[in-house]
Amino acid sequence: MITLGHSCRGGFETRPVSILRNYIGSLVRRTIATKSHRGILLKAGGFETRPYKRHDRAVCSTRLHLHTIMLPLLLAVALAACGQNMTDQPKYNEYKPAQLFRDGRVLQIPPAGTVARDDADRRKAAAEKPHLDAALLARGQEQFDIYCAPCHARTGAGNGMIVQRGMPRPPSYHIDRLRTADDQHFFDVITNGHGVMYSYAQRVTPRDRWAIVAYIRALQLSQNASLDDLPDDQRARLHAAQ
Ligand code: HEC
Repeated sequence: MITLGHSCRGGFETRPVSILRNYIGSLVRRTIATKSHRGILLKAGGFETRPYKRHDRAVCSTRLHLHTIMLPLLLAVALAACGQNMTDQPKYNEYKPAQLFRDGRVLQIPPAGTVARDDADRRKAAAEKPHLDAALLARGQEQFDIYCAPCHARTGAGNGMIVQRGMPRPPSYHIDRLRTADDQHFFDVITNGHGVMYSYAQRVTPRDRWAIVAYIRALQLSQNASLDDLPDDQRARLHAAQ
């Protein structure tokens, strides 16, 4: 018990009492106080002020102890923490372990096929047109028949099954404007969409887009070829068949 200072204040002595005592005893004490002739007990935030007896007067009226200050201070700090709920919420940190998932990680491995925004590999694949070969054409045909043929038709004429059921009709790939358009235009239409046609960037990988473009070129050639475009042996076979 450290005495910080003395001062006299009327005939009252102020000293700290335990909060518990304060709570539990307040009712009882108040009852006793009103009934007793010895004095009235006033309770206020852990302090007890009572009229002291005549012989106390010689000591001093008011004593200020260290824990008189510490108690409200601790209380203030403890209560201040209660107000931090909004800023200091319970959460999992990405790189810390936790039992939330079976593998004990907070940051889960993305499922196969997940594409990060601005993925560097995809951007590179979009910029590099792959080498044209039979495998690429076959892949292009497969992807075209899955993603494009429902509207554009398997020939690219633009009268696919969905169009026959009432969807807007796309232009034929065999019109002059699209026949002379460069490969990049087709790639961009798949990537960004065009007019009422929506983007296929989420469904078709950049490499597959190039494969589809190659196949569209083959389709265009198939609808606009002359006999002279055929190799000699095949032309001879055609003539023989006629
Ligand atoms: C749900 C129907 C639908 C599907 C599926 C579809 N398209 Fe289209 N496409 C359209 C329509 C409709 C237009 C015409 C859009 C306009 O002009 O407003 C169009 C236009 C186009 C054009 C012409 C752009 C121009 O310059 O006029 C190209 C090229 C094209 N689509 C390629 C594709 C490819 C490649 C795929 C498959 C990856 C595909 N489309 C899938 C409906 C579709």
